[in-house]
Amino acid sequence: MSGHLPVMLAEVLDMLAPKDGEHYVDGTFGGGGYTRAILEAADCRVLGIDRDPDAIARGQDLVAQFGGRLTLIHGEFSNLATYLDGARADGVVLDLGASSFQFDEPARGFSFRDSGPLDMRMSKEGPSAADFVNTADERDIARVISQLGEEHNARRIARAIVAKRPVTTTGELAQIVKDAQGPAAARLAIHPATRTFQALRIHVNDELGELERGLEAAAGALAPFGRLVVVSFHSLEDRIVKRFLTARATTAPLGSRHAPVARRAQPAAFRLLTHRPLMPGATEVEGNPRARSARLRAAERLAA
Ligand SMILES: C[S@@+](CC[C@H](N)C(=O)[O-])C[C@H]1O[C@@H](n2cnc3c(N)ncnc32)[C@H](O)[C@@H]1O
Repeated sequence: MSGHLPVMLAEVLDMLAPKDGEHYVDGTFGGGGYTRAILEAADCRVLGIDRDPDAIARGQDLVAQFGGRLTLIHGEFSNLATYLDGARADGVVLDLGASSFQFDEPARGFSFRDSGPLDMRMSKEGPSAADFVNTADERDIARVISQLGEEHNARRIARAIVAKRPVTTTGELAQIVKDAQGPAAARLAIHPATRTFQALRIHVNDELGELERGLEAAAGALAPFGRLVVVSFHSLEDRIVKRFLTARATTAPLGSRHAPVARRAQPAAFRLLTHRPLMPGATEVEGNPRARSARLRAAERLAA
């Protein structure tokens, strides 16, 4: 089985700046690439979280290796405050989306290149992608593909899916989407099913809802001067992270200049460590094409 190459690892470590005695949360443990590097960088502790039970099972070797400095929890990063049980974190890192372990294993149903069951559930629980495409209204399918995939042909694709139900494998779905796109699809720089698969994955795992809740949870759990580092992979995620951080990093007056009564200052909670997102260098992208679309944003919790 192939592994997962951690994306923008040097930049993540630079922003987190691990120190002896500190306590970090790796909210997306995955293949443990970030966690291992954090534990090697300082005599610190890491709470690793992943909603995928396979990631937690694979990580047990690392738990044994770092004897007591690493705790792994199967769950969602939106619940990180519960897992911290009142403790404060000196850093929280989120590396969004799916791992190479998930993409590269056809049985997990994320891949349109190698056919497998149409699943896409990171947690292996709840409704799968097949459940959604085989039961939802055509309009709902089109809305998901349009909004979460930013796919122009969403209505045509949704109509084709509904006409071919039941759709049970990723290979079938990829073919349906490709046919629905027509000959123009051959000229696309990406596989014609890329955006549809992205949309279904985000929907099945409620990835944007998780991100919004996770950012709130991280902000509440960080100790003064604690760092929040988020690596995102598409514009919908990056927009949420950007809005969240800029809203809390400025002392923005409430209301508008037309409503002076409402001009109360909202105290800032963060100092931005990145004013524009960091992107991977050319060498990293050459060695790891999955890093291509990565965007890193980071901020530091203010003292009070
Ligand atoms: C891109 S990978 C992380 C890779 C990791 N940084 C490494 O270096 O190996 C994302 C991981 O986060 C997990 N994940 C995604 N959303 C999650 C959530 N809301 N809560 C917990 N884990 C999540 C996925 O299951 C996947 O294993």
